Amino acid sequence: MAKRVVSGIKPTGNLHLGNYLGAVKQWVAQQDAIQAEGGETLYFIADLHGLTEWIAPAELRANTIEMTATLVAAGIDPDRSILFNQARVPAHSEMAWLLNNVARVGWLNRMTQFKDKAGKNREGASVGLYDYPVLMAADVLLYNTTHVPVGEDQKQHLELARDIATKFNGDYATELFTLPEPLVSAAAPRIMSLRDASAKMSKSNPSEQSVVKLIDSDEVIADKFRKAKTDPDVLPATVEELAERPEARNLLTIFAALADRTPGDVLADYAGKGFGAFKPDLADLAVAKLGPIRDEMVRLLDDRGAIDAILEKGADKARTLAVPVLRRAQEAMGLML
Ligand code: TYM
Repeated sequence: MAKRVVSGIKPTGNLHLGNYLGAVKQWVAQQDAIQAEGGETLYFIADLHGLTEWIAPAELRANTIEMTATLVAAGIDPDRSILFNQARVPAHSEMAWLLNNVARVGWLNRMTQFKDKAGKNREGASVGLYDYPVLMAADVLLYNTTHVPVGEDQKQHLELARDIATKFNGDYATELFTLPEPLVSAAAPRIMSLRDASAKMSKSNPSEQSVVKLIDSDEVIADKFRKAKTDPDVLPATVEELAERPEARNLLTIFAALADRTPGDVLADYAGKGFGAFKPDLADLAVAKLGPIRDEMVRLLDDRGAIDAILEKGADKARTLAVPVLRRAQEAMGLML
């Protein structure tokens, strides 16, 4: 069976370095690798997932456009990948409802992301936030997806998607759903905050300094790396010696992932040197890699009509693939349409 790669991103803020290194860089790589073998790549802006925590409508709209421009600037080619926003393909919502009846409350209760996001305010969290992983399962199962490039934090949700697919296939005696495999980047499974290496880099980090965004100016990117938290020791010769130095390890991971080198290889250049030498080089590398993406994104944002056309065209193609699978699921369940 030809491979099919699907992944999504929430338009709840600007793309940040964690999203880029953990997910989007892999999306671009898959675009080449999978298509060379005759497979397909589909990437979407998860605007429906964006609703699970309050966001002003104008902000959601603007973020969706901006995220699309950023993905194109980062290398997602809308002529080679299907690029769309989830809300424009109603089959996602429809499939999510069907799968709500297959997923178990006990399964959702185990999802750590809900626990983290709802925190102490579980009773006040939206039902959408709780049900979020079922919509995510629908996103993936609708396309007979074989591989899903994601950061490590989404692995649990994909295991749930596999459980839902297995139960559906069993309950309805069908082989409709393919079990999707997560593809977690070996180079950057989890990029951490630049201020607190015990927290993952995320748009909800309390400090602006902790998150490098793809819209940041060269000066801001460099400043964030120069001021990143580190320790006073020099860099060691081996990665193993960084086990107890999470800030140092995070910066090395970022360096290696941006440079497409292994951490060990980077250490060979810096062993015995302090962060005073390492951080300016990391800042320069980040500016060299991220600056051109930002510039291209800004250029693309000049023509919002063109971005809208990309999403519309992508949604048309996505619907063509999704609707037959949705129909088969409805038929399998006994719905008469
Ligand atoms: P989201 O929007 O939070 O993040 C998008 C992608 O970026 C990865 N990521 C990270 N990787 C490494 N280090 C980090 N600090 C970091 N922060 C984020 C995420 O793992 C993700 O791959 N639920 C998803 C969106 C989604 C989706 C899907 C993904 C909706 N439907 C179907 C795959 C398939 C999410 O909230 O990602």
